[in-house]
This record gives sequence, structure tokens and C-alpha cells, in this order.
Amino acid sequence: MLNFGAQYGQLIARRVRECHVYCEILPRDTPTEEILARKPKGIVFSGGPSSVYEDGAPLCDPALFEAGIPVLGICYGMQLMAKTLGGEVTGGAHREYGKTELTVLDHGDLFHDLNPRLIAWMSHGDRVDRVPDGFVETARTSSVLAAMSDRRRRLFGVQFHPEVVHTPWGIEVFRNFLYQQCRCRGEWTTESVVTSSIDAVRTQVGSGKVVCALSGGVDSAVTAAIVHRAVGDQLTCIFMDHGFLRKGEAEQVVRTFGENFHVNLVHVQAQERFLSRLKGVIDPEEKRRIIGEEYANVLEEEARGLGDVQYLAQGTLYPDVIESGTREAARIKTHHNVGGLPDTLKLELVEPARHLFKDEVRAVGEELGLPDEIVWRHPFPGPGLAIRVIGEVTSERLATLREADAIIIDEVMGAGLYRRLFQCFGVLAPIKSVGVMGDQRTYGSTIVLRAVTGDDAMTADWAQLPYEVLSRISTRIINEVRGVNRVAYDISSKPPATIEWE
Ligand code: XMP
Repeated sequence: MLNFGAQYGQLIARRVRECHVYCEILPRDTPTEEILARKPKGIVFSGGPSSVYEDGAPLCDPALFEAGIPVLGICYGMQLMAKTLGGEVTGGAHREYGKTELTVLDHGDLFHDLNPRLIAWMSHGDRVDRVPDGFVETARTSSVLAAMSDRRRRLFGVQFHPEVVHTPWGIEVFRNFLYQQCRCRGEWTTESVVTSSIDAVRTQVGSGKVVCALSGGVDSAVTAAIVHRAVGDQLTCIFMDHGFLRKGEAEQVVRTFGENFHVNLVHVQAQERFLSRLKGVIDPEEKRRIIGEEYANVLEEEARGLGDVQYLAQGTLYPDVIESGTREAARIKTHHNVGGLPDTLKLELVEPARHLFKDEVRAVGEELGLPDEIVWRHPFPGPGLAIRVIGEVTSERLATLREADAIIIDEVMGAGLYRRLFQCFGVLAPIKSVGVMGDQRTYGSTIVLRAVTGDDAMTADWAQLPYEVLSRISTRIINEVRGVNRVAYDISSKPPATIEWE
């Protein structure tokens, strides 16, 4: 897919992959030779915010239409196709946003086996007024052209968005395009991903030595499991306990990887080192910087200790790859991703999950036999509880948060809500407040409960947890965690808040 600036461009790739066809997202200005060198069976042009006739609008190389490869243009993608091939596009007097009824005029290609009248999601101002030579109109709304095709050249355009959930039959448009026009066979399955990833790691690594930093999260776990299947004992996993892990987490990771998978595992106990460096530090960015630096130091020492290691396996996912190519966003937080080794080590990266989305990683994890506690675990930041203890990080404050956090997870799981939440956790606030317990005045700490829903970490909504669950969490934390006399619920969404507090 070529991305012309669609807000939800990733959704197009998701839908194509749901059809078991592999799809990559490339920037719109990728050179044609580079696109063709990948031997695509089909190309999708995404939508985008521009108008094809305004100055500076992103264009495309007309040669792409001559390469004999089927092309599907969506919204701006269709308008671009129309304009490039000699059709006419104008600023629409009839803007259409939201659900719109369309009438199918031709069921011969994209609308094969679909109803003659359909509800589709539209979001556009411009419209195609005249289709280029060789094209026919295949669907209309009451006011605009909704789809066009040139079956001889296998070029197709749709004005609506087949990738969004509000166009529920949209997946059929992709199926018709992929299976009938591109002649894809739908062979991209979890099993095939596992097999090809293992083969690729084997080819890359040969007889070399690999280290993988395990965090306990699903991305690094899946990475380690793939590399282990590929090269067995050539892999050593390094699991560092920096002292900011959740309750029982270290034991679980060691058990899963040491006992179940028989992986070479170095369990580094570095709690003291980290804690002493954080003494007196309260600034969030400073905490992140120190933890990142210390993590790299310890990892470097461990990797050197293993001798001639040439490769570093890292759980990079596809959204990281896409974003690093396009994003010029303001730095909100310094993300410390476990696994980042200093450049001085000169290790070549092995990233078997770099083409996968989060839920695909989870499916691969299940396929590889990783336990549910790892596959379905909520994301956890590299600096761990240190950025959820607001203010100074001490072992006492960490212990308080760890206990409260364990209660939150326990109750949310008990209520069967864990998988429905993107994340839920506790934050130890840097304040004390007055309370009364057993006729005594207390002056204790506040735990803030954070629970969010969402599909990715870019946006999130605060979760509307049932009152009974909130009540049980509050009662248990106040009764069971010493020094806590108050529980508050964070009801902010992202944006404008972020998921973590620091
Ligand atoms: P924010 O707080 O920016 O977090 O809304 C977005 C997502 O990223 C996680 N997070 C991190 N993950 N290293 C990580 O690997 C980090 O330093 C880090 N900081 C935040 C956070 O838990 C949420 O899922």
C-alpha cells in the first residue's frame, strides 16, 4: 500500500492481512523501481487529506499504471488515479461525511456477490466528475461517483472507505480485488509467518551467537521464541531485574523461559544499581534517561561477558517501523525500549517481528506455544514501576505500588475484564492525605487507578469499569496495602493525557 497521508492507513494493511495476504505500507514517494522490486501482486493507494489539483498535492508515477499490476485507489487514491489517467476531478459542492447509500451499477469486479444497494462510509470534499478513457462507473451515490474500474488494465477506484468498520462489507471489496484481480491465494497465515520467520533468522544468523533482552512482555518473548526455534543454543536471553517489575513477574519469566523452553537464560539482579542511581531524582525525563543508560550499561557488560556475540534480537513491531519512517512528532516522553544496546557493541539486529502488528504477534506467540500470561499481558513500559511511582523512587514506595498493582490486576482478571482493557495499573501519587481508620487519624498515600481501552497506544479512552469492580479494588487496596488510605480513579483520555503518568 502506498500511503498518501491517510489518517488510518494502517487499517488498509490490516484488512488486507485479514484476507491472509501480506501487505506492506510504503511512503507515497517510494521510487517506482523499489516498489516493483518487491514484486507486488497488487498495489493499493490510500486516501489522504490533499486535493489532487492543489499545488504540492502528492502525485504518483504514471508508470505504476502501466506495469500490469492491479491497482486499487481509495478516496484520494481514486481521485489521483482519475486525474493521472486523464479524468476530471473537482472540488465537490456536495461534501459527504459519514454513512452514505450507494447503488451498484456493475457487479463484475469489486462488487461481485454484493447487494445492489449498500451503506458505505464516506469522507471527502472532492469528486471524480469524469472517469478516464477505458473506465466505467461501477457505483454511485445520489450525488457522486462512488466507484470506477478499467477491467482490461485492472485499475479500480472507490470513493468510499472499505477499510473502516462502518463499511461492514468493505472486506469483500478487498477479497474481490485480492483474489480475483490480483490472483492472490490467501496463504499468509500465522503458521506460514512462523515458518518463514524461523527460516529468515536461520539464514541471517548462520552459526553466529545471538543475545536477546527479555522484558517479560509479548514482543520480546515472541522474538526470543522464534530465534530459539531457529538457532537453539546459539541464543542467550538476558533478563534483567531492574527492581521495577510487577509482583511475581521475574519468577514467571524465569520459569517460562528456563523451564518450559530450555533457553539459555541469564537472570541479572541489578536492583541495587538502579535504585541507587535514582536516589533523589524526581524529574520524569531524568528518571527515564538514567534507567535507559543504566540498562544499556548492564546489558553491555553481560553481552561482553558472553564472548563473541554478533547479533542482538529485538522485539521491534511494524508500527515502530512505519512510524520511524514518517513521524516527526514532538517528543512527549523518552521511550526506553528494553533491548536497546549502545552502538559501541556493533551488534547486527535480528528483528523477526518487525513486519507484524501487535495482535499478529500475539497469534504467533500462541502458535509457538507461549503461555497465555505472556501472550495476553498488557504492555508494560521499559522503566517499569519507576515511572508509576511519582516523585522519588524508594524501595518502600515501590513495594507499596507493587502490592496495590497486584490487587488491581487480580480484581480486573477476576471480573473477566483483563483482555478487554488495553492496560490497567496503579500509580503512586506524590501526596499524602488525611483519613480515619479504626478511630485513628491516618495520614497516608494515594493510589491512582488507571484503566484504559484502545487498540494501540496512540489514543486511549479511560475505561468505564463497573462500580462493583472499582469498589472491590478500593476496599482491598486500603485494607491490604499498608500506608494507603485513599484510591482515586483517573478519568482522562489520551490525548490530552498520556496513558502513563510520567
Ligand atoms: P504513553 O504514556 O506515552 O504510553 O501514553 C504509550 C504506551 O507506551 C508504553 N510506554 C512505554 N513502553 N518503553 C516502552 O517500551 C517506555 O519507556 C514506555 N513508556 C510508555 C505505555 O505503557 C503505553 O502502552
